[in-house]
Formats: sequence, C-alpha cells, structure tokens
Amino acid sequence: MPDRVIAVSGLKGGIGKSTLAMFIAFVWAVLRGKRVLYVDADPSSQTGWDWWKLARDRDTPLPFDIETWPHAQVGDMVADRTPGKYDVVVIDCGGDSDAILRSAVEVCTYALVVTTPNKADIRRLSATFASALKAAKDAGRTSEIDAAVVFTKVDNRRQAANKEMRRQIEAKLPMLQRELSLKPAVYADAMGTNVTSHADLEEAKELVEEMEAAA
Ligand SMILES: Nc1ncnc2c1ncn2[C@@H]1O[C@H](COP(=O)(O)OP(=O)(O)O)[C@@H](O)[C@H]1O
Ligand SMILES: [Mg+2]
Repeated sequence: MPDRVIAVSGLKGGIGKSTLAMFIAFVWAVLRGKRVLYVDADPSSQTGWDWWKLARDRDTPLPFDIETWPHAQVGDMVADRTPGKYDVVVIDCGGDSDAILRSAVEVCTYALVVTTPNKADIRRLSATFASALKAAKDAGRTSEIDAAVVFTKVDNRRQAANKEMRRQIEAKLPMLQRELSLKPAVYADAMGTNVTSHADLEEAKELVEEMEAAA
C-alpha cells in the first residue's frame, strides 16, 4: 500500500473539505516531491476533478494524478490500483455518504474530519467522527489509523469564538492544532490553478507536519 492514505471527510457541502484535501495533495507533491493520487470520491460534487481538469485545460497541469471514484468500493480501488504507483493517496470522501467514508477508512492511515468553527457546521461532528472510528474498528484497523478533527475557513477576526468552539470539540475529540484560515485570496482563488507558492502552502504544510508528528 502507499505509505500514506489520507481520508478527508466532513459533514456537509461547502465547509472546505475538497480545498483542504487539494492543499494537502499540493504539499506532498510540490514541497515533498512525492507521487500523489487525489481520489475524488464525493458523489454530490466533483470539485477535485473540476479543479484538476481546469488546470490541465489551462496548460498548468496539477503535479498529481486524479481518479473519480464516487462509490462505496473506493477502498478496494485504492488497495488494488495504487500500491507501487503512489506514495500518498488523498481521498476526498465528500460529506454525505457513510458507505464511502467507511470504505475509505478500510484503507486509510489517517482520517481527517473537517469542519469550520461555526455552530451550524459542527452539529453532526461527533456522529461523523464516531462513524469513522467504528469503520476502523470493524475493519480491525484501529491501531493503524490516526483520526482527528481539523478546522478550516477559520475567520481570524473571531478569535474568542473560535477558541471556545475548539475548547468544546477538544473536550470530546482529538483535534489538530493547525488549521486553515478563511482566506479567499489563497484558497478560493486557487480553484483550477496549480498552487506552487510556498507562502500559499504554508498553513497546509504545517498541518501536514502535525499529521506526520502524530503518525
Ligand atoms: N480556507 C478557505 N478560505 C476561504 N474560502 C475557502 C476556504 N476553503 C474553501 N473555501 C471556499 O469555500 C467553498 C467550498 O469549499 P469546498 O472545498 O468545495 O468545500 P466542500 O468540499 O466541503 O464542499 C469554495 O468556494 C471554496 O473556494
Ligand atoms: Mg467537496
């Protein structure tokens, strides 16, 4: 199997899962020179695939491969087709299929559950996290998988509210200290482009380093 299989999941659309998954893929490909596969397994929107295609059509291809595989055999696909070919696989699980998340967890080494620090977005966080842990347990892989909640779209003008939200989550669930800020000029404008700027990759780089430290 690839050294790292990172399953990115969340609760609903629009919270920044695909963007975070993309930036993790950029860090591994651009900054660490690894062979990366991005698997777009989200059945309800194909942000990863659209991003990849747009970049290719503009003659600035992304520095990693992509597969679209939006169904519950995504884990089998990764197990069958990626060994020897890729060092890192990032699976964008989308937000509304428990079956896809479970399948990704059967092969992943790291399960990231993405949320924003907004009340409306964290309501199903515990349930999603529990589902990922249960899938790991059912697959007999609990000891092989790290799992953590991660914040994205963090509005740094609301520091007190963000801190309180973090405190509430950390009382129940493991959480990465590193996060992605709400920065449309970096993250939203990146759609369809190949991100190589080290400044733009800085937050994602630190996130990856924290994931590595846990492993
Ligand atoms: N950190 C961020 N800062 C600003 N805008 C962001 C950030 N992350 C994502 N976005 C924007 O939010 C929207 C939803 O992001 P996306 O990654 O597609 O979410 P999801 O995959 O959860 O549906 C997109 O318009 C995207 O450009
Ligand atoms: Mg998405």
